[in-house]
Amino acid sequence: KKVIKAALLGLGTVGTGVYKVLKNQEEEMEQKIGASVAVKKILVRNLKKAAAKIPEPELLTNSWQEILEDESIEIVIEVMGGIHPAKEYITQALCAGKHVVTANKDLVASFGGELLDCAAEHHCDFLFEASVAGGIPIIRPLKQCLAGNHISEVVGIVNGTTNFILTKMTQEHMEFADALALATRLGYAEADPTADIQGYDAGRKVAIMASIAFNSRVTFEDVATEGITHISSKDIRYAKELGCVIKLLGVAKNTGDGIEVKVQPMLVPEGHPLASVNDSFNAVFVHGDAVDDAMFYGRGAGELPTASAIVGDVFDIVRNILFGCTGRISCTCYKALPIKKQEETESR
Ligand code: NAP
Ligand code: HSE
Repeated sequence: KKVIKAALLGLGTVGTGVYKVLKNQEEEMEQKIGASVAVKKILVRNLKKAAAKIPEPELLTNSWQEILEDESIEIVIEVMGGIHPAKEYITQALCAGKHVVTANKDLVASFGGELLDCAAEHHCDFLFEASVAGGIPIIRPLKQCLAGNHISEVVGIVNGTTNFILTKMTQEHMEFADALALATRLGYAEADPTADIQGYDAGRKVAIMASIAFNSRVTFEDVATEGITHISSKDIRYAKELGCVIKLLGVAKNTGDGIEVKVQPMLVPEGHPLASVNDSFNAVFVHGDAVDDAMFYGRGAGELPTASAIVGDVFDIVRNILFGCTGRISCTCYKALPIKKQEETESR
């Protein structure tokens, strides 16, 4: 029986979800992918806090070196968040020939290109399906299933926390602060929710989707962002009078002479499909010249939906390991397209 060993970096909302989903899949995964995946080590900062979360506290460590130097560990799953030390750990893992899965949009949106180059150089896989829209498959569809299209537009609701807040303000007249506190309790918000409410998190996801959809390299720094902190109950009421709801939309367009990328609260007519995307759900519209319109919908945040996307990536890597075709997905060929400057409405 073939067992592929993995290490988890982080055991917060998402890390705990990954541990649970892998345990849940234990019986089936060998039939599905031809091997089983065993978590050998879990990196955390606070061992005592983490020990209360899982029945195997012996897996916990606070030594990254122990994981890096363990040659039996073939897959590293990074769910710590933040740029440092995640970037250094991922780079070291790839250089050591370990495959990496991450949910870290902060990192992918700013350094995804560099990390893909590093993965390609070391014939490793670097996958990040969970970094955009939680449980919704969108990275792989853009990269693989829709590869036969010239994609001109990707538009959607890609932040669960702000969509949850706007839904609660609209449907239950909840105050902004109360709705944010609830989103945080439910595990949707980032460790620092500023990134959610100011539109930065959605901006990072737009940068990642634009890079893949347009086969270019777009970073977070290219995206003009506006959040929802200034949206009041009065705005919500006025929107209703106009037959609309307010949604925070991420927009990426390839206009032929360049790329436009932005995040902004917008009025969406009540009859539009995006108007009925509520709570922590996300939805992404894609327009391609062959497929026409396609829409992806599902849970955009939370423990198990995000873990679902991560485990899908892990299973893909296991198949690649078994068939000897790792590094196939990383691609260093892209076209640097000009970014059309959008007006920045809020400073960051
Ligand atoms: P979280 O609940 O704050 O968990 C982070 C975990 O990483 C904690 O166990 C923390 O340990 C550990 N950690 C952080 N820095 C570390 C370090 N330097 N060394 C060792 N351990 C470290 O965060 P999360 O919500 O699970 O999010 C994790 C990642 O997934 C982030 O990149 C986030 O953007 C992304 N993501 C989250 C969601 C979601 O719905 N929550 C969805 C998609 C993607 P301690 O507790 O001991 O500090
Ligand atoms: N904080 C993020 C959100 C998590 O609310 O969408 C999922 O990426």
